[in-house]
Amino acid sequence: MEYRKTGASGLELSAITYGAFAIGGTMWGGTERSEAIKAIHASLDNGVTSIDTAPFYGFGLSEEMIGEAIKGKDRSRIQLLTKFGLVWDGSNNGKGEFFFDAEDNGKKIPVYKYAAKANVVKEVEESLQRLGTDYIDLLQIHWPDATTPISETMEALEQLIRQGKVRAAGVSNYSVAQLQEAQQSISIASNQVSYSMLNRTIEQDLVPYTVANNIGIIAYSPLERGLLTGKYFKDAALKSDDHRNGYFGQFDAAKVKAFLEAITPIAAAKQATLSQLVLRWTTLQKGITVVLAGARNAQQAIENAAAMNIDLTQEELAFINQQLVFVS
Ligand SMILES: NC(=O)c1ccc[n+]([C@@H]2O[C@H](COP(=O)([O-])OP(=O)(O)OC[C@H]3O[C@@H](n4cnc5c(N)ncnc54)[C@H](OP(=O)(O)O)[C@@H]3O)[C@@H](O)[C@H]2O)c1
Repeated sequence: MEYRKTGASGLELSAITYGAFAIGGTMWGGTERSEAIKAIHASLDNGVTSIDTAPFYGFGLSEEMIGEAIKGKDRSRIQLLTKFGLVWDGSNNGKGEFFFDAEDNGKKIPVYKYAAKANVVKEVEESLQRLGTDYIDLLQIHWPDATTPISETMEALEQLIRQGKVRAAGVSNYSVAQLQEAQQSISIASNQVSYSMLNRTIEQDLVPYTVANNIGIIAYSPLERGLLTGKYFKDAALKSDDHRNGYFGQFDAAKVKAFLEAITPIAAAKQATLSQLVLRWTTLQKGITVVLAGARNAQQAIENAAAMNIDLTQEELAFINQQLVFVS
């Protein structure tokens, strides 16, 4: 495993960081608690030291299970990354920006983007409780909230850092302009954004800006939520309440399948899986600090952590990039 510095902060994260969205279950067709705990343990046993979660994931369940999984472990060797600013429990009293209706057991739950100072402070107390810790290594605003000035949100982060409850300030889904504004209030360690072989928009503006300004990029959904593992072109099936029934529709399935077939020989020659090849490619791209890989169980977690053991030559990288031209 490689450990990489996150922007100008002193924070070092594992290049493969465990992503705890799917194990929350909501939007992902449910979850299996014991499998989820095993996935976290397997990650930690295989060189992954960093875990990314959010209060929103499973409406608190993801953080709670992480708290259970790390209980009794050496906290100083684990980096906990969480977020704030997506409110689902009505505590915002209609304030903030309506985002979307989530579904929980067939019930519609309105989710708001809300990052007012008092709400940030409240959410962090709840996260600390669920995670069973007294500090968060990296606290990130989950999505920009157009109803709260960025400076107000950053003031909350600054206060939490001063109090020792948070070690570093991060953002997520921020544009270059929003990053620039946030940087006027506080030093931003990282921006967490979607990035994969099939989704490289950030290479145009965001990556040049973050590289020039020493801000980390934390890449999310590198496997395109499972699509790039190749298994959904074979026998894997989705439950009816899994958001990927719609999500995968944005991609041209035939082109993605052909692309995966074209790069399979590279994986095979290294006795690696497609998932490992995809993750390794992602960690090698310019400006990418760490890659968040979700895993439902120990087997996936072990496989994903071992992606860092693969070496890719310049020729192999060039071949993959050449093939990618046909997917877009
Ligand atoms: N900031 C944001 O707005 C935001 C948004 C999305 C994600 N994120 C973060 O990024 C993390 C990673 O993204 P993601 O979870 O959306 O998607 P992802 O990492 O691209 O895909 C994860 C899913 O792919 C499947 N998978 C993973 N490894 C596998 C393997 N080795 N073999 C077979 N299947 C495998 C698993 O689901 P199945 O087994 O069910 O197929 C897993 O849940 C999240 O957990 C979260 O921490 C952040």
